[in-house]
Amino acid sequence: MVRLLRELKTRLRAAGLPEGEALDLLALASRLSRKDLLLRLLEAPPPGTEERARALLEKRLAGYPLQYLLGEVEFFGLPLKVAEGVLIPRPETEGLVELALRLPLPKAPRILDVGTGTGSIALALKAHLPEALVFATDIDERALALAEENAERLGLKVHFLKAPLTGGLRDLDLVVANPPYLPLGYREMAPLELAHENPLALYAGEEGLAVARPLAEEAFEALKPGGFLLLELAPENVQLLAEELKAKGWEDVEVLQDLAGRDRYLRARRPSQELEGEKGPLRGP
Ligand SMILES: C[S@@+](CC[C@H](N)C(=O)[O-])C[C@H]1O[C@@H](n2cnc3c(N)ncnc32)[C@H](O)[C@@H]1O
Repeated sequence: MVRLLRELKTRLRAAGLPEGEALDLLALASRLSRKDLLLRLLEAPPPGTEERARALLEKRLAGYPLQYLLGEVEFFGLPLKVAEGVLIPRPETEGLVELALRLPLPKAPRILDVGTGTGSIALALKAHLPEALVFATDIDERALALAEENAERLGLKVHFLKAPLTGGLRDLDLVVANPPYLPLGYREMAPLELAHENPLALYAGEEGLAVARPLAEEAFEALKPGGFLLLELAPENVQLLAEELKAKGWEDVEVLQDLAGRDRYLRARRPSQELEGEKGPLRGP
């Protein structure tokens, strides 16, 4: 199998893909775990391995995401099932979970993850805040079915709702989301792998704010006074939404950076004390 592994590495490298993926592809093709594969590397491949490995390689070279081939990713230390049609959780979103865990939340907070996909954010938060009451919405049935399956496999209790945005929930301490946030124009120049992801999970109108903007409006109503809104957004539009939220009366509005130093997250707080006589959300000029 060493010769086959070498061939896979060479072809991946030539295509500009990480050659480390060769081991994953060979493990899948040989139907062995990575560990067993390493132990049996000097043996002849099991029957059918070469054909399967070449077919998987061709798919990969055509931009099909490795995670969909493997069917699983690790997110914030949790093994999550992934499947075509539902967004593969990204490392940047682990940064969003870290920010959420640093917020001064009550001991048993009421949390909502909007656009839950595989359930990644909701499940990571529930795993770290066992006393939290965690809700999660999505409008995509496939996403919700997968999120529920992940919750069950992990033994974590999250209330999944098929509903847009905040689903009419109230009295929340935190609304967190990695909504679709790419400007539609990005579609033309998107990397090959994005073509295999669900556009519903990626694109949000001309500016990329067609989901995040109404979500912020609703979140103002859904949060308790003093509750937090925490969003992952594109570097291109996070400042714009931050300015809009300030103008609409949100407090402590802050843009935060990802590990690569790009503006990426938006944190804001519903004022704890609303102006006297004011009903509902504060409106800016
Ligand atoms: C970028 S994906 C995020 C998935 C997951 N939270 C993650 O970070 O891996 C956005 C998700 O929002 C869902 N979505 C799109 N529009 C929505 C809406 N108006 N209300 C609720 N969910 C929505 C999509 O189906 C998709 O699952």
